[in-house]
Amino acid sequence: MTTLVIGGAGYIGSHVVRLLLEQDREVVVVDDLSTGLRERTAGAELIELDVTLPDAREKLAFHLRASGADSVIHFAAHKQVGESVEKPEMYWHDNVGGLANVLAACASAQVRDVVFSSSAAVYGVPDVDLVTEDLTPQPINPYGATKYVGEWMLADAERAHGMRTVGLRYFNVAGAGWPELADTAVMNLVPIVLDRLAQGKAPVVFGDDYDTPDGTCIRDYVHVLDLAEAHLAALDYLRGEDRPHRVFNVGTGTGSSVLEVIEAIARAKGIEITPEMGPRRAGDPARLICSADRIAQTLGWSAQHGLDEIVSSAVAARAES
Ligand SMILES: NC(=O)c1ccc[n+]([C@@H]2O[C@H](COP(=O)([O-])OP(=O)(O)OC[C@H]3O[C@@H](n4cnc5c(N)ncnc54)[C@H](O)[C@@H]3O)[C@@H](O)[C@H]2O)c1
Repeated sequence: MTTLVIGGAGYIGSHVVRLLLEQDREVVVVDDLSTGLRERTAGAELIELDVTLPDAREKLAFHLRASGADSVIHFAAHKQVGESVEKPEMYWHDNVGGLANVLAACASAQVRDVVFSSSAAVYGVPDVDLVTEDLTPQPINPYGATKYVGEWMLADAERAHGMRTVGLRYFNVAGAGWPELADTAVMNLVPIVLDRLAQGKAPVVFGDDYDTPDGTCIRDYVHVLDLAEAHLAALDYLRGEDRPHRVFNVGTGTGSSVLEVIEAIARAKGIEITPEMGPRRAGDPARLICSADRIAQTLGWSAQHGLDEIVSSAVAARAES
């Protein structure tokens, strides 16, 4: 059983590669190393390929056949919300076009099982306490829209080619399962705060007048190692009988506020942190917490790590990098 991991040199993909290798599964990584790092692939075979190029589907099909792959996990995408607003064509071309190439290659090589990185960004700014998968997605930026369209493409591939597909809607991913696999992109709260502290600056809180207990935004933080485990659970699920296309939230079902995360970072570093208060950012919902019931009931997955473990692993990984 070989799994082709596209984007396996990235932050989340590299955690999945490690777990697959630890379970003695065969792994081939496809990555163009645009944001990924070769040294993260833990010795797995690495094929350098940009999956958005016109000849990518033939090349991917070749590698799928050559490796005897029976499954694909597709991580490769652009993931910056702000950039997607400025360069929507790039997001549509690369995120959607890349996935189209991957699905066409899987159909051609008769690879049945595909797991896709979706995102809580599909939901936009839902006005509910707990986000369930039954809520109709209403993405508010091109990034979230490309992920939602990606989910449709999976469902279409199932109908057209008999493929089996799962979309995982990640909530706020943070932490590191291994110190050398830090999140090197400074885009999410934990790396942003650590980066500010490293520069000797106070972290900035964007809005403290939300309708939440401490006035700051609440998010559902999931440890990247737990998230990686969810991919293995999804692969196992797809190997069973009768598996229609499904999407699953991946989060903990509990939320932490911006100030609670900063306090956890202060605890992990053994320092005091006094954040600066700034204005709200456009498009930030007050709270975004998922219901993780469907994934628990269907895949038997639930998060094992809490906020302090997430933050302390991120602090340790940053010290290492
Ligand atoms: N990190 C998060 O908080 C988060 C949250 C929700 C969803 N996601 C999704 O999870 C996936 C992985 O995110 P990540 O944080 O690991 O990002 P990342 O940038 O660390 O990893 C992406 C990997 O894909 C590779 N890649 C990008 N474009 C490629 C292309 N055209 N061809 C081949 N390889 C390509 C990059 O080199 C990199 O190794 C993305 O699809 C992202 O949208 C991430």
